[in-house]
Amino acid sequence: MTRLSGITPSGHIQLGNHLGAIRRWAAEGKPEDLYFVSDLHAMTTSHNPARLRSLAGEQLAVLIASGISPDRVFVQSDIARELGALTWILECTCSYGEAARMIQFKEKSKGQAGVRLSLLTYPVLMAADILLTGASEVPVGEDQRQHVELARTLARRFNTTYGEVFTMPEAVLPPSGARVRDLADPTRKMSKSNQDSAGVVFVLDEPDQIRRKIKRAVTDGLSVPAYEPEERPGLANLLEILAACTGGDPAGIAAEHKSYGALKEATAEAVVETLRPLREGANALLKDPAELDRVRKAGAARAAERGEHRLQSALRLIGAG
Ligand code: TYM
Repeated sequence: MTRLSGITPSGHIQLGNHLGAIRRWAAEGKPEDLYFVSDLHAMTTSHNPARLRSLAGEQLAVLIASGISPDRVFVQSDIARELGALTWILECTCSYGEAARMIQFKEKSKGQAGVRLSLLTYPVLMAADILLTGASEVPVGEDQRQHVELARTLARRFNTTYGEVFTMPEAVLPPSGARVRDLADPTRKMSKSNQDSAGVVFVLDEPDQIRRKIKRAVTDGLSVPAYEPEERPGLANLLEILAACTGGDPAGIAAEHKSYGALKEATAEAVVETLRPLREGANALLKDPAELDRVRKAGAARAAERGEHRLQSALRLIGAG
C-alpha cells in the first residue's frame, strides 16, 4: 500500500489543506509513501514565475514542518521529464470528453478568455503523478475525488488495452475536515487561491490574525449552537473545524457550547494550537535554504527512480521505444 498525494503552490497553504489532507499525510505515513509540491499544476491559469518558485519552497517547508519525513517529499518539476513523457502517453489514453467533464475545468474555465490548454489537461498530469510512482492510495479532500477517478479510468484502460503496468489507485477521504468552507462565505470551500482572503486561515498566519478571522466568521441570526449543516452552514463549518482540531464530533461539540461567542473562541484557540508547530517549524526551515535544497535533491532522485521502470514499460507497451 503506497500512498502519494500533492499540493499545488497556487497560494499559501490554508487550514482546509491541512485538515483535509496534509495532517493525515504526516500521521499515517509509511516509509514508501511520497508527498510532493505540484508546482507544474500551478501554471494552468495566469501565474507569476518568481511567486510560484517562492511558494513551492514555502510549501515544501510546511510539508516537512507538519511532520512528513523529509525522506518522503519532493517537488514535482524536479521530475518534469518523466512526468511529461507519461502525461503524453496518458493523453493518448484519455478522451477529450473525459477531460472536459472535470468539474474544476468547468468551474475555472467558465466565462474566461484565453483558457490555457493545460487547464483542460492537468487532471491527466495528475493521473501521471499517481500512476508513475505506483501509488495504491491517494489521500485527498472531496474536491479531488473526481481527478483520482480519472486516474483509475486511465490506468484500467491502459492495462487492458496495452498490458498491465499501472497499479489501480484509490482516493482515501478523511473522516472529518474533508471540506472546510470559507469563513466569510460558507457556500464555497476554503481555497488558497481565493482573491479575498478574509475567510481563509493560512497555516503561516500569526495567532492574532487567526483569532480575528474566526471571530468575524459569517454565521446566522441565531444564538444557541446546533449542528445543522444545511440550514446553518457557517456555524456547521466552525463546528467541523473544531471537531477536526480536537477529535470530537460536531453535534456533540455544539451541545457543549452555550453561545456562538464561546464557540468561536474555542475554535480560534484550537486552530491556533493546531497550526503553531507548523508555523514555527516552517519559518525555521525557510531560514535554512541549504537544508531545503538538500531535501529537494534527494527527493527528486528517489521519485524519479521509483517511476523509471513503469515509464519504460508503458512506452514499450504503447509501441514507442
Ligand atoms: P490542492 O493544492 O488544491 O489541495 C491540496 C489538498 O488539500 C485538499 N483541500 C481541502 N480539504 C478540505 N477542505 C478544503 N477547503 C480543501 N481545499 C483543499 C485537497 O483535496 C487536496 O487533497 N491537483 C491537486 C494536487 C495534486 C495531487 C496530485 C493530489 C497534484 N497531483 C496527485 C493527489 C495526487 C491540488 O491542486 O490540490
